[in-house]
Amino acid sequence: METRQGHLARLARLSPLCFPLLLLLAGCAHNYPQTTLNPRGDFARLVDSLFRTTVWWAIVAFVLVEGALLIAIFKFRGRPDDPEPRQVHGNTVLEVVWTIVPAFILVMIAVPTIKTIFKTSDYATGDVVQIEVVGHQWWWEFRYTGLGVVTANEMHVPVGKTVNLRMTTADVVHSFWVPQFAAKRDVFPGRHNPLWFKAEVTGTFSGQCAEFCGTQHGRMGLRVVSETPEEFAAWVERQRIGSPLVNAGKVVRDTTQPADTLMTKGLGTFMAGGCIGCHAMMGAPTAGVMAMKGPNLSHVGSRATIVAGLLDNTPENLRHWLSNPDSVKRGTLMVLPRKLTDAEITLLVAYLRAHQ
Ligand code: CUA
Repeated sequence: METRQGHLARLARLSPLCFPLLLLLAGCAHNYPQTTLNPRGDFARLVDSLFRTTVWWAIVAFVLVEGALLIAIFKFRGRPDDPEPRQVHGNTVLEVVWTIVPAFILVMIAVPTIKTIFKTSDYATGDVVQIEVVGHQWWWEFRYTGLGVVTANEMHVPVGKTVNLRMTTADVVHSFWVPQFAAKRDVFPGRHNPLWFKAEVTGTFSGQCAEFCGTQHGRMGLRVVSETPEEFAAWVERQRIGSPLVNAGKVVRDTTQPADTLMTKGLGTFMAGGCIGCHAMMGAPTAGVMAMKGPNLSHVGSRATIVAGLLDNTPENLRHWLSNPDSVKRGTLMVLPRKLTDAEITLLVAYLRAHQ
């Protein structure tokens, strides 16, 4: 029987294989929605092109340096009976070469880098969709102020049109990042940072807060839904229903929904359960308030996910979340003022789902 040491020795011999094997395994992944290597927007393409430029020059530097090293090791290796090598001091040609070549490579990287920084550091102008982005612990708020729409965690954009983001945070520093559309950009309290991008294809693209911002930083996700201009217009039209931002500050009831007991009773529970303390909601007195602690829940039924992209928006998940938010997302700032009863949760789930 082989000893423990024998096993360990065999493992040690195999260890150089681990890295290539890991690389190979990584290549097997077929679904990597947050890759930066597959840009689908103009901003991401600029950054991707800069990345590739840098990598190619890095490869040139690697080959030159490692090549010189290997030549030195193998050609000039010392042997036991070698005489004392010739003692030299300084070599002007060599020193000029190894100053000029790296300087040239640095310039070749610096020029496109500075160009890209200038191109991407300001607001986009012209015919753009304007969106205010506000980071919160731990979710994203999107305000389409010109369109009268406020939503959370799911940003809808029309394909082929530039969206202009004006970004800040309500609490700590976060970083807005949708890899296939745009690079990371931090958001800071008390100031606004610009970011813009134009989606080239339709589809749903995931993003993530990229700056550590507390316990649930890793679950501060978002999605960008890129759709045809017609789909986007229809989405905006739908989201504007009941928005005081488009109705001169007045709370307007959703006339497309029958004034049945679900909406009336649901709103009653929404208020009695304390939800209204943190969440804006169409048809509720908070509807027009911009700065709420929690996500605006108007039309929440139309979102694909809840809890900042953590759960699919299904009745079961909504029930689970409302029963005990902390068990779903530990440390969440969604603290129920009191435990909701089963009947209240059932009603709230139906009410929230009906807000399409
Ligand atoms: Cu927000 Cu990390």
